[in-house]
Amino acid sequence: MRLSSADARDFAALFAAPTISAMLALSDSEFEHFVEYVFQRAGYDVHFVAHQRDGRGIDLELWSAVNGLPFLAAIVQVKRYQHDVEPLEVRSLKGTLTDYPGVRGYLVTTADFTRDARRQAEPVADICLIAGQHWLRYINYIRDSKAEGDAHVMIAPECMRTADAIQRRSPQQTKIVAIANNKGGIGKTTTAINMAHVLDTLGQRVLVVDLDAQGNLSYLLPPRKDVVFNPRHIGTYLSHQCPLQETIRQTGYQHIWLIPSHADVRLIDPGANGYTTSALEFAQALHAPEITPLRHQTLDEFDWIILDTPTAVEHRIRLACAAAHYVIIPTQVETFAFSGINLLQQTVQAMRALTGAGPALSGALITDYHGRGEPKGDRATTMRDNFNSIHVPIFQTVIHHHPGIETAHLQQTNLFPSRQVRGQNAAAREYYAFVEELMQHVSDNG
Ligand SMILES: Nc1ncnc2c1ncn2[C@@H]1O[C@H](COP(=O)(O)OP(=O)(O)O)[C@@H](O)[C@H]1O
Ligand SMILES: [Mg+2]
Repeated sequence: MRLSSADARDFAALFAAPTISAMLALSDSEFEHFVEYVFQRAGYDVHFVAHQRDGRGIDLELWSAVNGLPFLAAIVQVKRYQHDVEPLEVRSLKGTLTDYPGVRGYLVTTADFTRDARRQAEPVADICLIAGQHWLRYINYIRDSKAEGDAHVMIAPECMRTADAIQRRSPQQTKIVAIANNKGGIGKTTTAINMAHVLDTLGQRVLVVDLDAQGNLSYLLPPRKDVVFNPRHIGTYLSHQCPLQETIRQTGYQHIWLIPSHADVRLIDPGANGYTTSALEFAQALHAPEITPLRHQTLDEFDWIILDTPTAVEHRIRLACAAAHYVIIPTQVETFAFSGINLLQQTVQAMRALTGAGPALSGALITDYHGRGEPKGDRATTMRDNFNSIHVPIFQTVIHHHPGIETAHLQQTNLFPSRQVRGQNAAAREYYAFVEELMQHVSDNG
């Protein structure tokens, strides 16, 4: 059965801001239709079969297609319950599934599952129990990732289970920071590289990951000359040719390691159904204990991982946001610097829903400011209002325009020639101040 447009309109509001109590306020049948609506939004062709005489308790069939050939991907049972789902109900789904080889079984509830009910499901890989809280996350993830323009992508609810299985590092172990802004030439790579240099002079071990096919960051961190050159890069990993840890390269700087990029990275496409998996796999790989400074293996961990991302919201920004604890937005004080930030915010929200964990938009960093002192004037006010409106704080430190930054990039050098804790030039001092402020933010926010 297809939803009439009136039903769809009613559900749009709930889909936009789902809560358990609002779902409980629906009738059983309305909730079944809402679940139908959600799976449609997830990309399935949904057949509403609830209340059919030989329906065997199945409420929905989820159909998918490969090369235009439709196939039944999953059957769904819907339980609009206040109390936890019992083992009996899982057993009944299990029984039904035996008649559907290769088909998945989803049990969606507004409540949770008893421990015994979960145990019932455990040995059966084809069953996926979707408790109320996971259902909310699933809805939020579908909504925000589709809003970014992935309308063609199909999202299976198992992604929640995969996400929960990731052993995430805590920021106390390793602070993972993504530098992102969908506008280009705004100081993302400059922020990433100078952060790494400041941390290096402070003796903190840093892994810098270049997710931008332009590879500017990789260019600025040439490999260590006295070790065997490692030609692998982020694309080698993303195209499944080696594990992530094998792409780590030692740089010429004592405490900086690099996962470099490559122009070919832009050609790697995980395929319509692969975006979610690929983002989760990257998060899992980056958080795994194998990601260590090579020379120290197992003994030490990175104190920081910095992810430099490409311009324009696309797949590699989503990878970064799935893995990061913190997201920093370099920005400039100009009229259009803010445009598109809502897309970035949506990506961050989608990845929060997907992973059930970070990241948070930690703050905007004003870079390449051409005036003196604090940014003033109408444009500065507009910029502050813009970030205020989405509740993103602005770092107090302002990175001013320094010709030396451009020169350092051109000469493949850096602003910290003495490698001493206090760089002598104004640009270096500003980056120190920014990192100090970030460290304060990290210790305040855990
Ligand atoms: N504070 C600054 N002062 C002078 N030049 C800067 C400053 N920040 C960035 N730049 C220059 O602006 C250009 C774009 O910066 P970049 O960090 O590559 O931006 P993005 O990574 O966002 O595309 C680079 O050539 C860089 O050298
Ligand atoms: Mg860049």
